[in-house]
Amino acid sequence: MNTRIADPGSARLAGVDLHALAAREGTPLYAYDAHALDARIDALRDGLHGRRARVCYAVKANSNRALLARIAAAGLGADIVSEGELRRALAAGFRASDIVFSGVGKTRMEIAAALEAGVGRFNAESREELGLLDALAAERGQVACVALRINPDVDALTHAKISTGKAENKFGIALDPARAIFREATRWPALRIDGLHAHIGSQLLSLDPIREAMARVAVFAGELRASGTALRSIDVGGGLGVCYREGQDHPPALSDYLATVFAAFDGFEGELVFEPGRWLVAEAGYLLARVVRVKQGSSRCFLVLDAAMNDLIRPSLYEAWHDIVSLVPQDRPMRVYDVVGPVCETGDTFARDRALAEVEEGDLVVLCGAGAYGMSMASTYNSRPLPAEVLLESGGYQLIRRRQTWEEMTAGECAPLERGTA
Ligand SMILES: Cc1ncc(COP(=O)(O)O)c(C=O)c1O
Repeated sequence: MNTRIADPGSARLAGVDLHALAAREGTPLYAYDAHALDARIDALRDGLHGRRARVCYAVKANSNRALLARIAAAGLGADIVSEGELRRALAAGFRASDIVFSGVGKTRMEIAAALEAGVGRFNAESREELGLLDALAAERGQVACVALRINPDVDALTHAKISTGKAENKFGIALDPARAIFREATRWPALRIDGLHAHIGSQLLSLDPIREAMARVAVFAGELRASGTALRSIDVGGGLGVCYREGQDHPPALSDYLATVFAAFDGFEGELVFEPGRWLVAEAGYLLARVVRVKQGSSRCFLVLDAAMNDLIRPSLYEAWHDIVSLVPQDRPMRVYDVVGPVCETGDTFARDRALAEVEEGDLVVLCGAGAYGMSMASTYNSRPLPAEVLLESGGYQLIRRRQTWEEMTAGECAPLERGTA
């Protein structure tokens, strides 16, 4: 039995009655346990205490403004990848100087907006990006701080779609061209290129690839130091994995992860930057859904929920596992279901052959570990409005995003222009 919902029959989470919550706010509904998020923030802060280190939360994992505001208020910085995330981060209270701007395809407009805001550091991914950033910073009379994102060519041993540190991936710069960039750094007078960045992938369940990648970055940093380039920061990215499947996933302990990074950069006098996303928010989040139908097919029993791939795409996109709990008395007989959504794609499947305490139409189920890359990847596919989000705290809750209305879903769509007038 999944222990995240201690007593599924009584269906309480963080002291909140999920039946009453679902009746009031409707389903599908994202619910985040504020205490679980705070506990992760505190653990990180404790683990970094006394170190020259900074945490920049990867906004893409979950960009809800209330969560961002909570994370900013706790003193963390932000790792952003778009102007939209920049705007969200600033609106939520992150100081611009505590923001790092990552991403392989920053546009001219996005770079200009980030310069205007005064973001602390750009994690640059190509020589071309350096040229553009230099030109835009020079135009404004600014000097931009830059870390070069290194592609260490290490297999992160994670799903291919979230592996980012192999030579064949689009991210970062290989060591040879990176070496040349540092040698020629004066070509970009409006840039201060004095940092390294590496992010090899997400949902890392083994420390080996991290150790390997960080060793390569550390050797490179040592080489730069020997040739006279003093680095001010080394950004180790995010990627620390979480437990999606109780009893099966064994992510590294935070302390072991941090010890691995500290060991790699022992003696480094600059600042270490961490960009966790998933680790901070995934396990704090739940997607609450109602059973629309139990459909007995010719060979399989389908549990059709009112949540679908548009609400939580990870299972469809990455064959990702989410523990699922039916919020019914657990002395009901167990039954094996294919848990699916109503979207018109066979890929709209949350789980196959999943044993759950038997459910009926109208019962609630909860998908665990849904706090990261859940709502932030949601869409309105099949013209399904975006779900609502709530923050559970001290036995109560706050609505932190109301359910999208039909009008909001189609707002912005216009009547076609008359032919020939474009
Ligand atoms: C540059 C960068 N940093 C940090 C992260 C966050 O990764 P995670 O959520 O696995 O911690 C990502 C995720 O894609 C990323 O691309």
